[in-house]
Amino acid sequence: MERVLITGALGQLGIEFIKYFKKNNIYVLATDIKSPSKELSCDFEIADALDKEHLDLLVKKNKINTIYHLVAVLSAIGETNPINSWKVNMNSFHNIIEISIENKIKKIFWPSSIAVFGTKSNLEMVDQNSILNPNTIYGISKFAGEKLIEYYNKKFELDIRSIRYPGIISFDTKPGGGTTDYVMEMIDSMSKGNDYQCFLEKNTKLPMLYIDDAILGTIRYMNTNKNDLNVKDSYNISGFSISPYELEKKLNENGFKGNVKYKPDYRNEIAKTWPKEINDFDAKKDWGWKAKFGLDETLAIKFK
Ligand SMILES: NC(=O)c1ccc[n+]([C@@H]2O[C@H](COP(=O)([O-])OP(=O)(O)OC[C@H]3O[C@@H](n4cnc5c(N)ncnc54)[C@H](O)[C@@H]3O)[C@@H](O)[C@H]2O)c1
Repeated sequence: MERVLITGALGQLGIEFIKYFKKNNIYVLATDIKSPSKELSCDFEIADALDKEHLDLLVKKNKINTIYHLVAVLSAIGETNPINSWKVNMNSFHNIIEISIENKIKKIFWPSSIAVFGTKSNLEMVDQNSILNPNTIYGISKFAGEKLIEYYNKKFELDIRSIRYPGIISFDTKPGGGTTDYVMEMIDSMSKGNDYQCFLEKNTKLPMLYIDDAILGTIRYMNTNKNDLNVKDSYNISGFSISPYELEKKLNENGFKGNVKYKPDYRNEIAKTWPKEINDFDAKKDWGWKAKFGLDETLAIKFK
């Protein structure tokens, strides 16, 4: 029986993973540095992922055998305090690695990001094995994390798995300070008939993924036989790509009022070093990855 610890469980992804595990009768201990704003459907403990002893205690006490380590300071917020971002992203991950070795944790999930790519890749369409030259502290920490996965999996026979998520779109849970947050902000403003000021240029195209695809895809990947997984660092996966202007037009076509003003800031500089499209051939081949939601299917959730 799987017994799952989620760190960073109150974030955009964590809340949705909790829902999935509960629905499937899998034990979850959710942890975060803050308290939940509403009651959760699973056990919860406040735990700073930088406090290794505390997490180790929780793992032992709750007989945890699987960890979803979701703690991170995301791309946009990360640039405002890179020293702290590196500390949170890397030290917490290293704590999880140490705890996993000590407690013989069977499987660990640690998400990477499209922020690992950079201008040395063909950003029109990044391949699985593109050159990685990230230039945000977030991207650099994800790059380092991918290298740690390869190293520790081999050295200690761990089974840490990873996916390079594109921008995740969700409507029930709020985004946590990334470069693709504009999607949810624009939809939210315009659905209320308000204007929206967008922090990206109108034609800045980025890859996105609807939350259900992210959760179910990750679960499918985590349930795949290890021998079938040929990518040893982190899998590319892709949903669909859009620019702010394309989104604005779609919202207008669907009757959403409100205008968008474009006032690009430092987040547009980040976005310019990120891919527009992602080649996810390896994920399709190795573990049957397939996105169900395109832009229209994603927006249909909001329009219904
Ligand atoms: N959301 C996306 O678009 C996206 C895209 C690519 C990768 N990812 C990755 O997926 C993972 C989850 O992302 P998310 O969007 O849910 O992030 P989020 O910012 O919404 O949530 C992160 C959670 O971690 C918690 N946290 C922060 N510091 C902590 C600490 N020291 N100890 C314990 N908890 C702490 C926060 O309180 C928050 O609830 C991250 O690793 C992120 O890099 C997300």
